[in-house]
Amino acid sequence: MGNEVKPERKKVMLSGIQPTGVFTLGNYLGAVKNWKQMQEEYDCAYFIADLHSLTVRQEPTVLRRRTTEAFALLLACGIDPQKSLVFIQSHVQNHAELGWILMCASQFGELSRMTQFKDKSSRHADNVNAGLFTYPSLMAADILLYQPDFVPVGADQKQHLEFTRDLVVRMNNLYGNIFRMPEPYIPKNGSKVMSLQEPLKKMSKSDENPNAFITILDEPEVILRKFKRAVTDSETEVVYREGKDGINNLMTIYSAITGRDYDAIAREFEGQGYGTFKTAVGECVAEELRPIRERYKELIEDKVYLQETWTKGADMAEKISGRTLSKVRRKIGLLAK
Ligand code: TYM
Repeated sequence: MGNEVKPERKKVMLSGIQPTGVFTLGNYLGAVKNWKQMQEEYDCAYFIADLHSLTVRQEPTVLRRRTTEAFALLLACGIDPQKSLVFIQSHVQNHAELGWILMCASQFGELSRMTQFKDKSSRHADNVNAGLFTYPSLMAADILLYQPDFVPVGADQKQHLEFTRDLVVRMNNLYGNIFRMPEPYIPKNGSKVMSLQEPLKKMSKSDENPNAFITILDEPEVILRKFKRAVTDSETEVVYREGKDGINNLMTIYSAITGRDYDAIAREFEGQGYGTFKTAVGECVAEELRPIRERYKELIEDKVYLQETWTKGADMAEKISGRTLSKVRRKIGLLAK
């Protein structure tokens, strides 16, 4: 061995998002905004988790449309297919296959403890299907196929990441070194954006009250109106403090976009009351989302480009994930053709 310096392997990042509607400000601040920034430094892979969305009943034409829209939204948010691998989960069948293998390593007890399962099964009591239950095993497969170092997600996905890490230990102990151990990457600010109407609840695109969430395609007037209506408290001071959930949420949003910390924000709005603050938050959100909305309008018209891009992405994703899957198949004792 000479003493030449080996080029260092870039760290790998991977994450996914479901095509269940236009992304919310929560998806954006908790995940997609960071995904964009990471492209410069890391080898990134991002995908639309359409298989995961089947755990809730979907209308076929709507699912197809939303998957296309979600793909265009990712690109509009600045995910660049020249820099990152961007694809649609169901185009790469390796996900489903490793998902099954990992389901066979997942225990009933641990899957029963997943808060998202408990939450979704109570909200969709008429459709508590097996996929909803084994959802975290498929998510683990999505991740482990690409051997990432980090998985950038919002706080609500942390438990699924911990489950994935448990599976890594289990599989590596049983079969030797198969998977790299992934670390969650949860942003300090914006990892849990709350509903504008019920600030103790997570902001979610499936909320029945449209005033509770901002989508990244909302027009500026709509954004301003929703922030003006945001639920706060009966005080007047803009300060981050326990019990001021509505104001805390607005401060988190403002901070995640402007980069200012809570003290600086409190000083900026000292003596000005909530009205001025709400308008300022609304304006900065509208400004942040403006270029995304404009880019999206162009992209969604260009179906040929979208299709070419996801086809290329799928081909590449299949190659990369195929390497891991072959190794897994061999190690666990599945017979080669
Ligand atoms: P999904 O589609 O629910 O959300 C996508 C990303 O947005 C984050 N997020 C939020 N962050 C802050 N505040 C909020 N209110 C908020 N709401 C959502 C989520 O944490 C997530 O990072 N299971 C995943 C999709 C998935 C995946 C994966 C992610 C499938 N396979 C593999 C990572 C790796 C999901 O349902 O995300």
